[in-house]
Amino acid sequence: MPSAPHDTLTEFSLVHLTDPHVPGEDQALPRGVDTASRFAAAIEAINRLSPSPACVILTGDLSVAGSAGAARRAVGLLRSLRVPVRITFGNHDDPEALRPLMGRAGDAMGKKACQAFDLRGWRILLLDSSDLGLRGGFLGAGQRHQVRVELARAPRLPALLFLHHHVLPLGLPWVDRDNLHDWTEFLEILREVGTVRGVFSGHAHQASRQEWNGIPFYVTPSAGYQFFRDPTGPRVSPEPPAYRLIRILGEAFATEVRPVEMSAPMAEPARPGSASGV
Ligand SMILES: [Fe+2]
Ligand SMILES: [Fe+2]
Repeated sequence: MPSAPHDTLTEFSLVHLTDPHVPGEDQALPRGVDTASRFAAAIEAINRLSPSPACVILTGDLSVAGSAGAARRAVGLLRSLRVPVRITFGNHDDPEALRPLMGRAGDAMGKKACQAFDLRGWRILLLDSSDLGLRGGFLGAGQRHQVRVELARAPRLPALLFLHHHVLPLGLPWVDRDNLHDWTEFLEILREVGTVRGVFSGHAHQASRQEWNGIPFYVTPSAGYQFFRDPTGPRVSPEPPAYRLIRILGEAFATEVRPVEMSAPMAEPARPGSASGV
């Protein structure tokens, strides 16, 4: 097992935030949920964390339908976040609408390329699993090669990987049909490299933890709305928006889902949903 060069025990936290599905001002509420207010509440909750996390990682589906208005509103809400943020896209995002709003940070986004950086003795990779026009996830041969190269660049650092689409099937047919489609090739990279300590995804709008080859795979609930674990189809649950806190201690980490307190309950009861909004 590779060891990281920690002289003293590093202690910091990260936040995983995903799937806010913010609509444009002139668009209908997604599944009847005021996701813009919920996203704003999640951002406020993260701003209040003490100690403040080192970084927020936002794994896509920022906007409800990829419209320019939705992108502007989502990015506008994000500006109130007082923690550095890294973003990768989901299947609902339109890179052309979002990229111009993000300055230099947008350069790496929506281009089927992974973003890699080192943070206090950890290697962090954000993968772009969005594939324009497709609901399911796909890395592609070029990005899979890049993942291998970026991990090999820091062979002594433990690594955490973030991407929009879930990797391992969740046992729910309606969402498993759009997991990461090249997931078996992806797992092969993780097996070869040996430094990955955790993989974090969104897309499924629920919490989950699975394990493969000693690596935990987490799904983080949405900052907008959640789905029941119902195998028959997507049904919106009355659960609040949420984010995931990841506490790093040396070469280990612990993680928990943090629900966001809302002053008003969800306006509409859970109702059957179309299959189009994951
Ligand atoms: Fe998604
Ligand atoms: Fe989503």
